[in-house]
Amino acid sequence: MRVLVTAGPTREPLDPVRFLGNRSSGRMGYSIARALLARGHEVILVSGPTALKPPKAATFEQVETARQMLAACRKHWKACDAIFGVAAVADYRPAKFSKRKLKRNPNEDRCIELLPNPDILATLARSKGRRVALGFALESGAGKKEALRKLKDKNLDWIALNGPEAQGAEVASLRLLGADGTDCVLGPASKAVLSRALVRAAIG
Ligand code: CTP
Repeated sequence: MRVLVTAGPTREPLDPVRFLGNRSSGRMGYSIARALLARGHEVILVSGPTALKPPKAATFEQVETARQMLAACRKHWKACDAIFGVAAVADYRPAKFSKRKLKRNPNEDRCIELLPNPDILATLARSKGRRVALGFALESGAGKKEALRKLKDKNLDWIALNGPEAQGAEVASLRLLGADGTDCVLGPASKAVLSRALVRAAIG
């Protein structure tokens, strides 16, 4: 199969030196890309900024913002058989980008107006037909209900539920929920082991 993988955070610029971002390291997405390659799949990895080296065998596209990630993914999606949405996409971006560095003014509060970003996985999965779509749900509570809502709303086949402690962690566990009613826990294990289990379960 040819599989599209999104990974890492996105960065939404405020001015030439500042951005809104998040704590995603990209490790899970890169690890899933490696697990897919190891099982003989072709991988297109679209990634936000991370400190990681992409696997050589993957087609790699580096992006910065959510909108760039969507554009890169759209380009490849037509020719793919599955998508693994692992990126921690910023849900909002600053409404205004200042070409000049914003100056400090200690006497003034500052508000940043935010605009919603597109939902990359939902946008692509909407037109997936029989192709396979897997997403992650990062929930701070128990989360099953919320994860199942995302599974349905985003038209996914699989959703991997985890908590904020998984961000940047070496060892983690996941709860894999399927549109077919599957509900199983993977791990605790290294992200490499988890990724292999996830790939086997979702696309074989
Ligand atoms: N996702 C995406 N584009 C977005 C937001 C999320 O592709 N703009 C994908 C993520 O890659 C993940 C899934 O959707 O696979 C769920 O992401 P998550 O952050 O848990 O959920 P959100 O839909 O952003 O909802 P919320 O932040 O309100 O929990």
